[in-house]
Amino acid sequence: MRVLVPLVSLVAGIGIIAGCSSIQPPPATKILDVSHSLTACQKTDLMWNDKIIPTIYSELPALTAPGVWDLFTLAKTSFTIRSLTNDSDELDVGHRKLVHAWGAEARFRFVSSKRANGYTGIYESGSDCVIGRLSVATKPTKSTTVPALALKFFISGHKSENLQIMNSTSGQKSHNFFEMPFSNIIPPPASFAKRLMQKLFRNAAVAFGAKDPDPTHLTVEHLAKIRVDGTAVVTPKSPYRLIFKPTMTASAFMKDATVDTDFRTNLARYPVGQVMYDVYAVDKGESPDDLPASKLVGQLIPTSNIVASSYGDEKLNFQHNMEK
Ligand code: HEM
Repeated sequence: MRVLVPLVSLVAGIGIIAGCSSIQPPPATKILDVSHSLTACQKTDLMWNDKIIPTIYSELPALTAPGVWDLFTLAKTSFTIRSLTNDSDELDVGHRKLVHAWGAEARFRFVSSKRANGYTGIYESGSDCVIGRLSVATKPTKSTTVPALALKFFISGHKSENLQIMNSTSGQKSHNFFEMPFSNIIPPPASFAKRLMQKLFRNAAVAFGAKDPDPTHLTVEHLAKIRVDGTAVVTPKSPYRLIFKPTMTASAFMKDATVDTDFRTNLARYPVGQVMYDVYAVDKGESPDDLPASKLVGQLIPTSNIVASSYGDEKLNFQHNMEK
């Protein structure tokens, strides 16, 4: 009963549909990890050409919200902790994305602005070898959508480094994917149901041993500690928070979007090479709203079309980062 009452609230609050449950995941298989010896861009090519392109949907699957039984799985710390501990490029066998189930992928270039306050590693070098997934946390309704972006920076001879960003778990009224800035730190959710979900995520962060188990705060230090060529930075310098601000062109691109057109269909028309985000970096205590040009750490540019694939939805894994 103690578990049932909160779960019923979640069902009502997040717009859950009845669906089949997930299976408890067996240990991770590390299919792509055997390729650690490859260069960053060889690994990007491998994932893009051999995994994503061959599994592009011929017909987009309908967008769905998590099922009732999925919530029981999300309530298990043994399931949610894998978002923090699984550093593989692929999900555990049997692990389904119960939130952010639907998305679309693109190759990206992260161009460093070169004047970013001495931040090191990927902040300094940028990267030509990135794969990103643009997703919605749950099925959009007429009045709300919850967009998000996950990025995978491939590293030569080393596991990939990942970044997860969004605006908030409460979402936005507009269906323009590029309406709001994204960050690794998001506001606490307003609704009871979403606060309950955050409580479950906090349990995972505590079990993981996070220094700060706040489930609305992911860390970005890991990107300062390594270079794309796989060498470690001896004295890393990292920002505290990243803000991905959509460019004016990106904001204008989907400004008339409505719930009637699938976001994946709209994204498929995004021009290759058109800067999508200006990326700002702020230190602890600095305002995320005051973003002078001196805080610009780089730009994110898609170098391919944005495509929706079953590999992206069913296999591709992005580790969440929290400092221990
Ligand atoms: C302890 C805190 C958190 C937990 C336990 C958690 C858990 C999850 C889970 C279970 C998924 C579905 C994919 C999977 O099953 O691996 C997911 C996806 C995602 N989360 Fe979180 N999350 C947390 C915090 C955050 C925060 C703070 C952000 C953003 C600032 C975020 C952004 C995302 C994004 C962008 C995705 C989609 C990844 C993809 O495209 O595959 N998460 N998260």
